[in-house]
Amino acid sequence: MISKIFVLLFAIVLAVIGQTTKPICNIRCGTQYVPVCVKQDDGIVREFNNACLLALYNCLNRQSLRPNATCVKDIVREAVQDALRKSQRLPSDSSFQGRAIRDFVDALRRLIRSL
Ligand SMILES: *[C@@H]1O[C@H](CO)[C@@H](O)[C@H](O)[C@H]1NC(C)=O
Repeated sequence: MISKIFVLLFAIVLAVIGQTTKPICNIRCGTQYVPVCVKQDDGIVREFNNACLLALYNCLNRQSLRPNATCVKDIVREAVQDALRKSQRLPSDSSFQGRAIRDFVDALRRLIRSL
């Protein structure tokens, strides 16, 4: 009887320790910025610098989050590409306004290359 109680207590202690200690995760991640994003249930989009860091987060927190949201970087890229497509339909002229638009388009091109 007493030994059964001890076994039960031991099992409870193990279960509590298992829940409170962080799992050991042998995952080494680089710092490359290739973001992946997960939309939480509260609507907040959580960004991880790369897929490896998401895997590490999942391991440490015993979760299985999968990328299921668009990252800000990709939203900006899409918006810039859209602006560039539209700019190609603008009439080209040598007026000051035309030059200002071309300068702006060049700035967008540089931005999109840096993303
Ligand atoms: C994205 O994944 C998270 C975690 O797995 C989930 O809670 C959330 O509902 C998902 N969101 C969408 C938009 O699928």
